[in-house]
Amino acid sequence: MRATFAVLVTVASLTAYYVYIPLPRTVSEPWKLMLLDATFRGVQSLCHLVQKLGLGHHLRVLNFVINVFEMLAPKSNEMVEVTDTTFDGVQVRVFEPKKKLNDELKRSIIYIHGGGWALGSARMRSYDHLCRKMANDMNAVLVSIEYRLVPEAHFPEQINDVYLATRYFLQAEILSQYSVDPERIAVSGDSAGGNLAAAVSQQLVLDRSVTIQLKLQALIYPVLQAFDFNTPSYQQSHATPILYKQVMARFWLEYLNGDPRFVQAMLVNNHTASDQNQLTSIRARLNWTALLPQSFKKNFKPIVQVIGNPQVIRELPALLDPRAAPLIADKEILQLLPRAYILTCEYDVLRDDGIMYAKRLEDAGIEVTLDHYEDGFHGAMIFALPPTNFDVGNKIMNNYINWLDENL
Ligand SMILES: *[C@@H]1O[C@H](CO)[C@@H](O)[C@H](O)[C@H]1NC(C)=O
Ligand SMILES: *[C@@H]1O[C@H](CO)[C@@H](O)[C@H](O)[C@H]1NC(C)=O
Repeated sequence: MRATFAVLVTVASLTAYYVYIPLPRTVSEPWKLMLLDATFRGVQSLCHLVQKLGLGHHLRVLNFVINVFEMLAPKSNEMVEVTDTTFDGVQVRVFEPKKKLNDELKRSIIYIHGGGWALGSARMRSYDHLCRKMANDMNAVLVSIEYRLVPEAHFPEQINDVYLATRYFLQAEILSQYSVDPERIAVSGDSAGGNLAAAVSQQLVLDRSVTIQLKLQALIYPVLQAFDFNTPSYQQSHATPILYKQVMARFWLEYLNGDPRFVQAMLVNNHTASDQNQLTSIRARLNWTALLPQSFKKNFKPIVQVIGNPQVIRELPALLDPRAAPLIADKEILQLLPRAYILTCEYDVLRDDGIMYAKRLEDAGIEVTLDHYEDGFHGAMIFALPPTNFDVGNKIMNNYINWLDENL
């Protein structure tokens, strides 16, 4: 009896130790977030273990787990017709509202899901639900792109998939097939999908063969740069779930197919040390001491290494490619971009990526709506559904859809 009790107490304390992490008091529903984070960490550790045992790449295992629990077949209902098809060889899931309003042309949103360029799917329950809801609420045609993921694909394949599918859709004949108004099309995405949405917006304005352009870009807690891993938000939220600083740096390295050993150097900004003169002009473009308002800078100090590790940029020039890091694009390109909505969360390493991009776009003369959530954490929107049901996730989703509905 006493032994059983001792075992129970030990298990309970170990569980509590595993689950408990200190969280900011103002984050939405901290206990729920703690449980979500512990589940995530548990599944990730398991996937790394499977990789150590030689049974498969950890990301493939993780996607398999997500597949088993989260994937939905293309299921139409009386409101929305859902079809899986391909656009120029790239898989897409299309959601068409069945409502007919006197043959009026519909609005359309091209949606790009998040997941560190490695996880997630247009078929995932949360993304399927989001697109279905937008199609229904806005009477709009949703195109959710099923781009290839790490480890099957690496930069620039993800962005190329997204670009091909988008360019295919933006043809007059295709739009008319879907009864879409060519003047009312937006691109949107969350996290790594926000990165791809920002990058594809830049590519489209540079492509002279594309005559139908986007009206809006809506970026939800986007990842936009891999130059400075010590912005105030990276410093503040380095250990805040669910996107830890180190995990974000690893996602970058996997996306760019870089040596995983570079991660430590990148975390201290050794890859962009000031002795590398070729980086000077880029440094000025994401100089957060100039771009962020004081309320976000707080008392954080810039971290610039004097001597670092030039090998990282030598091996991974894509770190400085605007197709990977849209925040560093030339002002001449930013000036051509569509109007933007950028959503940021206080408890997110990527908060300042979004805020700096908003500022650079504004400085280039683009109209920007910055929608910031003081109680938000990275990824909150995809946890709006049961069983997680995050209040802040629902709030974000509703405000984002309302903004699109009013402005598209
Ligand atoms: C950063 O670079 C300096 C100078 O080369 C080196 O001494 C230091 O160990 C590096 N730090 C990391 C974490 O790579
Ligand atoms: C960054 O901005 C600050 C404030 O405007 C300025 O003092 C500093 O020289 C800038 N640094 C770079 C590298 O541009």
